[in-house]
Amino acid sequence: MSNSYEELSNLITEKINKLNFIKEPESLYIPVDYCLKNGGKRIRPLMTLLGCKLFGGNTDDAVNAAIGLELLHNFTLMHDDIMDEAPIRRGQPSVYKKWGTNTAILSGDAMLVLAYNHILEVPEDKLKAILEVFNTSITEVCEGQQYDMDFETRKIVSEDEYLNMIRLKTAVLPANCLKIGAMISGNASEEDIFNLYKFGEYFGLAFQIQDDWLDIYSDEKVFGKKTGGDILAKKKTWLFIKALSKADDKLKKTLTDAFYSDCLENNEKISIVKSVYNALNISNIAIREIELYFNQALSYLDKINVDDEDKKPLRDLAKGLMNREY
Ligand code: IPE
Ligand code: IPE
Ligand code: MG
Ligand code: MG
Ligand code: MG
Repeated sequence: MSNSYEELSNLITEKINKLNFIKEPESLYIPVDYCLKNGGKRIRPLMTLLGCKLFGGNTDDAVNAAIGLELLHNFTLMHDDIMDEAPIRRGQPSVYKKWGTNTAILSGDAMLVLAYNHILEVPEDKLKAILEVFNTSITEVCEGQQYDMDFETRKIVSEDEYLNMIRLKTAVLPANCLKIGAMISGNASEEDIFNLYKFGEYFGLAFQIQDDWLDIYSDEKVFGKKTGGDILAKKKTWLFIKALSKADDKLKKTLTDAFYSDCLENNEKISIVKSVYNALNISNIAIREIELYFNQALSYLDKINVDDEDKKPLRDLAKGLMNREY
């Protein structure tokens, strides 16, 4: 396998930078351009290309799907920031904060259609099957996002409910990016596609628990999102659920009083919740859990029937993200 994942990553960046979205009315399309070109790790398009390459496919055939999937991801973020009232994304004001909710809704919608336009460019004989996978991804992300919001007003959320919620909102998309890449290659067996999907799914679970962890323990400037945003939005993150399950009555009261308080100042609220997490060693417990899911992901990659050497870029990608800071 000649292309390392860095090369493919550069190819995606180049293609995205060349896209020209801006036309009239500019107030609709400038936010699309701003959102897509403002960086991001671009993991999902990379996974599409790597999924294709893993089975000896030509990555040129998968580039449009890859960009379509990155557009889809950015559409979900644009709407997610409205739902989460998140002021910062990738170190810049979120679209909703900069241009208002209505623009973020409509530019997001336009972005979703742009995503479809890219998906339409996949090899014609595979279009219907790929569209089905694409549509399933969108439906499942919406289901996950709805659970995520429903849980904000629930006092108790079980770990299983949480895992199902993040599987839908976060893990399904990387899994399907890999799957679509493999489908485009035309050379992957159903069994291999299944194992590749599971790799992506477990990767996604690890990735979201890590995102929950970063919300508390990252450096805001590096992470590019507001520290403690999940606490302010009353999100039932992995850390919160774990803390609640480990706390004695006294700590539980400190945690929930702060978490649900309407009078505490934001930073004070975050600091109390964080102090309870620290008292319960939640950071280290979460780090171990994240490793567990990444390792489960890698065990599915091991099962795929291609040369071990060809799995290296995906393995490197997963390992590289284990210690991510943003
Ligand atoms: C953010 O995804 C949303 C989650 C699923 C946690 P990324 O962390 O991949 O966001 P970007 O695209 O790199 O900014
Ligand atoms: C993101 O979950 C899931 C989707 C965008 C679908 P989060 O709400 O935790 O993602 P961030 O932290 O805002 O990127
Ligand atoms: Mg969010
Ligand atoms: Mg969210
Ligand atoms: Mg988050």
